[in-house]
Amino acid sequence: MRYRTLGAGTLRVGAVGLGCMPMSWGYSASQRDGESSLRALNAALDEGCSLLDTADIYGPFTNERLLARLLKERRDEVFLATKCGLLVGEQHLVANGSPAYVRRACDASLRRLGTDVIDLYQLHRADPEVPVEETWGAMAELVRAGKVRALGWCALDPHDRRRGRGAGGEHGRTLELLSRAQQVFPVSAVQAEFSVWSAEARAELLPWCEARGVGLLAAMPLGSGFLTGTLVPGGGFEPDDLRARHPRFTAEMMAANQPVVAGLRRVAARHPGATPAQIALAWLLAQGRQVIPLPGAKRASWVRENAAAAELTLTEWDLAEIAALPAARDSWR
Ligand SMILES: NC(=O)c1ccc[n+]([C@@H]2O[C@H](COP(=O)([O-])OP(=O)(O)OC[C@H]3O[C@@H](n4cnc5c(N)ncnc54)[C@H](OP(=O)(O)O)[C@@H]3O)[C@@H](O)[C@H]2O)c1
Repeated sequence: MRYRTLGAGTLRVGAVGLGCMPMSWGYSASQRDGESSLRALNAALDEGCSLLDTADIYGPFTNERLLARLLKERRDEVFLATKCGLLVGEQHLVANGSPAYVRRACDASLRRLGTDVIDLYQLHRADPEVPVEETWGAMAELVRAGKVRALGWCALDPHDRRRGRGAGGEHGRTLELLSRAQQVFPVSAVQAEFSVWSAEARAELLPWCEARGVGLLAAMPLGSGFLTGTLVPGGGFEPDDLRARHPRFTAEMMAANQPVVAGLRRVAARHPGATPAQIALAWLLAQGRQVIPLPGAKRASWVRENAAAAELTLTEWDLAEIAALPAARDSWR
């Protein structure tokens, strides 16, 4: 596995990470199984995918407990990234950025994970009720206390993206918050949706990250599975799968978005043995040295397939063909 750095070059991680969310959250519970998830986690480390991304809310809490089983045996091989600041409310997910909550959440994550330090502690959502300086200041205290090594920011709040539209693009509001946070304590990584069909982060966040040596962690790099070409339009999702209500995953929109998969298949056909998933990940890796894709997977075979994307080199022709593919269509637009 090739390596990439974040935190102004001070932290080294495998170029492809692993998103642990599907093992406990977001996708249908009927397909989850702790033992095969554990095999997937071990496969990730065997392949050199050291950055494992979790969050207290995944489960909630069960994903961190699952990772504890791996950490017990292989803590030294893991670059452990977890998150705080997003909670399950009565009707919606809610942000909490109060310093007292951040301190409590970190101690609770450390207990669940069974470790004494988190390598990257990420703010899952900025709380609009709390000045970012206060939240980020509390997170910086955790670094000074030795509970956390570095801090990361998640830029996936749909409200921020809507508020940010304008001069700074969809991430205009995020850039403003990031700059304020950076005045308080260095940001080591930014996590944002970034993939072939949703690539706003390339123009809007990547230059900011590159100028500061900040890692850009690409969340949903496989388009929640769509870009792998394994999802059948109209195939349906179980009711507890977030895609069952997602505007990109209606049968109509999945059919409308097929040209993106077809394009990835065309490029894959020029690389013997390559899959659309690998092409989607190799494209991300080609966007800049700060980009670290976090494909989510809960089975070892897909973890290995995704890790192997780091060995693929796309040609200028491939990159141009992918760049010309349409952006995701959804039933909101
Ligand atoms: N900060 C945030 O707010 C935020 C939000 C969303 C995501 N994230 C992070 O980003 C990570 C990735 O996002 P994601 O998991 O939602 O989406 P994703 O990585 O785009 O796609 C995951 C889906 O693709 C499937 N898959 C993975 N590899 C495959 C392969 N080689 N062939 C066929 N199917 C494959 C997985 O199936 P199986 O599950 O069956 O293996 C899963 O259903 C998350 O795990 C999480 O760590 C963060």
